[in-house]
Amino acid sequence: MIGIFDSGFGGLTVMKEYLKRYPQYDYMYLGDQANTPYGSHSPERVNKLVVQNVEFLIKKGCKLIIVACNTASADALRHVQQKYKGKPTILGVLVPAVEEALRSSKFGRIGVIGTRGTVISNAYERELKKYQKELYKLKGKRAEKNVRAIQKACPLLVPFVEEGMIKHVVTRMMLKNYLRPLRHANVDTLILGCTHYPLLQKEIERMMGRRVAVISSGKAAADAIEDYFKRHPEVEKGLFKKGKRTYYTTDSAEKFETLGSRFLGEKIKGEKVEI
Ligand code: DGL
Repeated sequence: MIGIFDSGFGGLTVMKEYLKRYPQYDYMYLGDQANTPYGSHSPERVNKLVVQNVEFLIKKGCKLIIVACNTASADALRHVQQKYKGKPTILGVLVPAVEEALRSSKFGRIGVIGTRGTVISNAYERELKKYQKELYKLKGKRAEKNVRAIQKACPLLVPFVEEGMIKHVVTRMMLKNYLRPLRHANVDTLILGCTHYPLLQKEIERMMGRRVAVISSGKAAADAIEDYFKRHPEVEKGLFKKGKRTYYTTDSAEKFETLGSRFLGEKIKGEKVEI
């Protein structure tokens, strides 16, 4: 079974991408709605919550765990990967987004938008620098294209998206304001480093203009898993393929079902759990 978790229902935008490409697997989703938003917690708190979520999914029998939340990936992925040492395999969303951004960027001016926690962690910039070297080594080129990460925290977008104010004039004004420094910095690629932003992707693309490639971290993560399975067939072999889906939340199942269905684009049945 593939376990996917997030601080709430945002991670369902990531799950949606997995279901689109790989509907055959069994999935278990956990939304830690009781502790949302992770984006304004300290890294220590996020680490603690991530361990709890991972433990829960391990107990439920997940053999592969996807940390769908960008903030959790930024603050705690390394920690849980080291703690569980590949048993089970735990993957995040940052590295696939970074790899895709590096492949698509012409001038190495890469914008990143996310929660305050994600931006403060500087994880995207660190990974961009690290993978820049690897990518150019692979391509046989010198690492002459110096990558610059231009990051912007957009803390108000999450609540507005959750309120369903996707096309609202206030959301548009806010977006314009948040994206201004990125436009002024002439980014050629923009990473959507938050589970909620794919719901605003069209508007963001329109504001950034056609010359800017907009990359959704969740989509990049789902795209990358096929290649991961080729390199690690033993992980893929351990997964059940009955197309079963289970949804858990740590808070009200009703709210989870209403909002979750909107994020996933299909009706879901959630169950409240204590973890
Ligand atoms: N899931 C979070 C992320 O992708 C956004 C919501 C939150 O702050 O918990 O960073």
